[in-house]
Amino acid sequence: MALKTKEEIQKHYQKSSVTVKYVGNRFKEPIGILKHQKQIAVINTFIAKKKNPTVLDLACGPARLTKDMKGVTKGYALDSSPGMLEQAKKVLSKVWTVQEGDAYNLPFKKATIDILTTFRFIRHFERGDRHKLYAQAHKVLKKDGYLILDVLNKKPTKILKLLGKHKYQVYDALYPSLKTFEQEIENEGFKIIHARPIVHHTLSQLAISKVTKALHLHSIGYKTVSALERLGGKSPWEWIVVLQKK
Ligand SMILES: C[S@@+](CC[C@H](N)C(=O)[O-])C[C@H]1O[C@@H](n2cnc3c(N)ncnc32)[C@H](O)[C@@H]1O
Repeated sequence: MALKTKEEIQKHYQKSSVTVKYVGNRFKEPIGILKHQKQIAVINTFIAKKKNPTVLDLACGPARLTKDMKGVTKGYALDSSPGMLEQAKKVLSKVWTVQEGDAYNLPFKKATIDILTTFRFIRHFERGDRHKLYAQAHKVLKKDGYLILDVLNKKPTKILKLLGKHKYQVYDALYPSLKTFEQEIENEGFKIIHARPIVHHTLSQLAISKVTKALHLHSIGYKTVSALERLGGKSPWEWIVVLQKK
């Protein structure tokens, strides 16, 4: 059974076996690097749209994305795992306050944050919990503030699961279309202002990524995975979605 309750998920990410290997396991191979670059590009594009922005990276983990954010005047990197925050502290500049906290009870005043990023987090919870998390984000964001997150497409993820390529240790909410996600958030006080589909050829890109990683051919792997990405496609692995507080 996949982990999905608040307590199960918090506990999982407090294990040192998970905190220390988190980035190495997922973001050192070609497909992980590609995803990371696409995610940070969208984040930095939207940071640039706000003047002197205050940014909250919620459930920041080891600050994988936080450390690459540009143009942040004041930043908060918040997570419930002390082990993850230890890693985060090592890589973040003084602009960032690294803070232990709970996404279900954010320690910020109402309407004080310009941009809230939260990747690989809200999707791990079921609908009732996601509602509570959206409500917290809505509370701390200023009017017109951005909530930026990742949304998983059901079809490619299901195929990976069937092939045993995607281990479901932690639950993931999967959406049959972006429209389904739009319906989920329309009553949460947000509207979609941008959705960037990424990883257009999941199976081939993942296969190339795994093989080239095993053969230590990272550069060739990355170039091939990126070339496939440029071809575009109709069924991305995920969307990077920018929501605006209504
Ligand atoms: C999959 S990691 C994502 C890390 C990072 N955002 C990224 O994309 O690489 C999920 C993170 O959520 C954190 N987390 C789990 N439950 C939490 C909660 N209730 N409040 C704050 N952080 C939580 C975990 O400690 C973990 O660092």
